[in-house]
Amino acid sequence: MPKPVRVLFVCLGNICRSPLAESIAKQKAKELAVSNTFHFESAGTGDWHIGGQADPRSSSIAEQHNLDLSQHSAQQVTHQNIHEWDYLVAMDHDNRLNLLAMGANSHQLLMMRQFEHQKNNITVIQDVPDPYYSGENGFEDVYHMLNINIESLLNHLLEERKLTNSK
Ligand code: 4NP
Repeated sequence: MPKPVRVLFVCLGNICRSPLAESIAKQKAKELAVSNTFHFESAGTGDWHIGGQADPRSSSIAEQHNLDLSQHSAQQVTHQNIHEWDYLVAMDHDNRLNLLAMGANSHQLLMMRQFEHQKNNITVIQDVPDPYYSGENGFEDVYHMLNINIESLLNHLLEERKLTNSK
């Protein structure tokens, strides 16, 4: 069996956006019967929350959508571990710049919202905004942005894998 494609979702603190992205990706991969094809995790570029749980507002949105963040333990992406990942999916442009500064290469790097823009033929890729200082609505908006884009992300990765395996 080929090795799973390793995908890391990246935000700043790894307690709000990227843990949600990770759990949505796992749920969708299960629905598409491709769980064994992927290994998903999430991480922050900052170190403040290492070992901490998901933000309760993210956990609450997750629960409302049948997802469970109770086992989440925040981790950090660093220049030492960045090359362990086939893909890094940045939530916003600051995350992307931080990943580039850590030595990410352009083949690894994706933006979380690039897929809705490709579909709508819009050239500027928008951020998944940091909801940390927003109210509950910010978290619901983040969930919907992630949900729309992650299905396209999985299709994109499955297509790339087909191309790689056929070379
Ligand atoms: P996240 O949100 O990057 O989506 O996990 C944040 C969490 C914590 C902080 C900032 C953003 N913080 O400043 O501690």
